[in-house]
Amino acid sequence: MSQESLKKEAARAAMEFVHNVSIIGVGTGSTVNHFIDCLADVRHELDGAVSSSEASTQRLKKLGIPVLELNQAGDLDIYVDGADEINGNLQMIKGGGGALTREKIIAAASKKFICIADSSKKVNLLGRFPLPIEVIPMARSFVARQLFKLGGQPMWRENFVTDNGNQILDVHNLEILEPIHLEQAINNIPGVVTVGLFADRGADIALLAKEGGVEKLTL
Ligand code: A5P
Repeated sequence: MSQESLKKEAARAAMEFVHNVSIIGVGTGSTVNHFIDCLADVRHELDGAVSSSEASTQRLKKLGIPVLELNQAGDLDIYVDGADEINGNLQMIKGGGGALTREKIIAAASKKFICIADSSKKVNLLGRFPLPIEVIPMARSFVARQLFKLGGQPMWRENFVTDNGNQILDVHNLEILEPIHLEQAINNIPGVVTVGLFADRGADIALLAKEGGVEKLTL
């Protein structure tokens, strides 16, 4: 089965959580795109979705699913999103698509975070995927120097601007032994908007598709 088909299987598996949910939180990325396509079939059951990116918003609207502001919606029952890496504690690296800030906000405002991915995203140790960090543009070099002191090699994602008008540093060569500790340390650097480590608030359920079926992980 191709990686794309596996992503579709993971997305389909998340549909069992959508029943009796009026407003759903929707993440960003190629796996979530499949999930949005599945949502189209149940759009009559939904009041709408809160979206984590302009890209997801466009796709939702195109399929006739109303997009609501988080400020209107309040706390959400579920948030469905992908990941770039996920470990056995359901802690993740996210932000490969650059939507990490809105993703983190919606994840924090949701009772249940359901991570959908193909099983290649499952790792023992987070950090092989470069850790994305959204920064205020004027702080980029300063933040990069602090990240270097933490043992990483930050690279500026050039020619990329986030939906919030900020920039991204991708930090290479981190072995993330203590995800929550590192998340807090990076959050404390002035100029950091969001770190793509979702450790303190990880996923509640992971649906990881592989040949032969979808593995469901819970804590
Ligand atoms: C978007 O900023 C990311 O957090 C995505 O959730 C993550 O990159 C997973 O994307 P794919 O589903 O495309 O692999």
